[in-house]
Amino acid sequence: MITEKIEKLLEEVKGLSTNNAEEIEQLRIKYLSKKGEISQLMNDFREVPAELKKTVGMKINELKQLAIDKINELKENTGSAQTQNSLLDLTRTSYPIKLGTRHPLMLVQNEIIEIFQRMGFTLASSPEIDDDLHVFTKLNFAADHPARDMQDTFFIEADNENVTNNVILRSHTSNDQSHYMETHEPPIRVICPGRVFRNEAISARAHCFFHQVEGLYVDKNVSFTDLKQVLLSFAREMFGADTRIRLRPSYFPFTEPSAEMDISCNICGGDGCGFCKHTGWVEILGCGMVDPNVLEACGIDSSVYTGYAFGMGVERITNLKYRVSDLRLFSENDTRFLKEFESAK
Ligand code: PHE
Repeated sequence: MITEKIEKLLEEVKGLSTNNAEEIEQLRIKYLSKKGEISQLMNDFREVPAELKKTVGMKINELKQLAIDKINELKENTGSAQTQNSLLDLTRTSYPIKLGTRHPLMLVQNEIIEIFQRMGFTLASSPEIDDDLHVFTKLNFAADHPARDMQDTFFIEADNENVTNNVILRSHTSNDQSHYMETHEPPIRVICPGRVFRNEAISARAHCFFHQVEGLYVDKNVSFTDLKQVLLSFAREMFGADTRIRLRPSYFPFTEPSAEMDISCNICGGDGCGFCKHTGWVEILGCGMVDPNVLEACGIDSSVYTGYAFGMGVERITNLKYRVSDLRLFSENDTRFLKEFESAK
């Protein structure tokens, strides 16, 4: 008796068809609500002899699942039919097709990447949210050293007992050095572009996030001469064949010796103008020979290998190339500004 009823309902449910939302709701009530057909079956189920309970129970479950699937299927069909009807305007023209433009920072970042790729560097990446170990400690920033003040960042998790455990937004792409050296054997020749964060008040000249490209080269017999020649080639490719460079001694915990690199001002050609504060030079990057402590902290034998690293700000290079006077323009999403770069590649 009950099995016949189940079979009959199974057939009925299989055959259901409508794309009217109200009718579907009626069907749901008829089959699946508390007082619906399937719940009724549950009442009859009590009368079923024990030896048949298993097969009959399975049949009821099958019916219930079928009803759920069927009703969902009907609902989905009406959904798409309705959106198609209401949103599809066949008379609307598809012209003019509005294309976006590449963001100036990405244009310049890609150009930097291409130049270094032509010199044999490959791309690497490292996390924007990282631990202190990789952003600072392994890069030779001692836990209590004032060098940490050079780059204030944002903290996600702070461990006052052991700063190495802090989870932070990286303040430079140099965390790529520690990640890459930990997981790769020399020879290493990589560049790492990416976003970095600093706890700075936002103004025309500073922002709390910006972009950098880091470079790292580790092998036997790498010297400062190699670094200088690679940076000179880069500057000439990027700013023109007449560009001159100069290296000024500087300090970074992770390089020794360290330098800052200026290029001859590409606006006045080195004669002196407002942009270069009448010096003829503009600073574009920091660089140096990887400190042996850093190599060792990352598992590389500093008695066998040497290396150089450099890091540059993409905003800075973009300003030089396109004379953008206010850093904030880069992240305001003003399409009038972005459209000005339409013709740039
Ligand atoms: N990480 C440094 C900064 O952000 C730049 C740098 C990179 C300097 C690599 C030397 C070597 O200021």
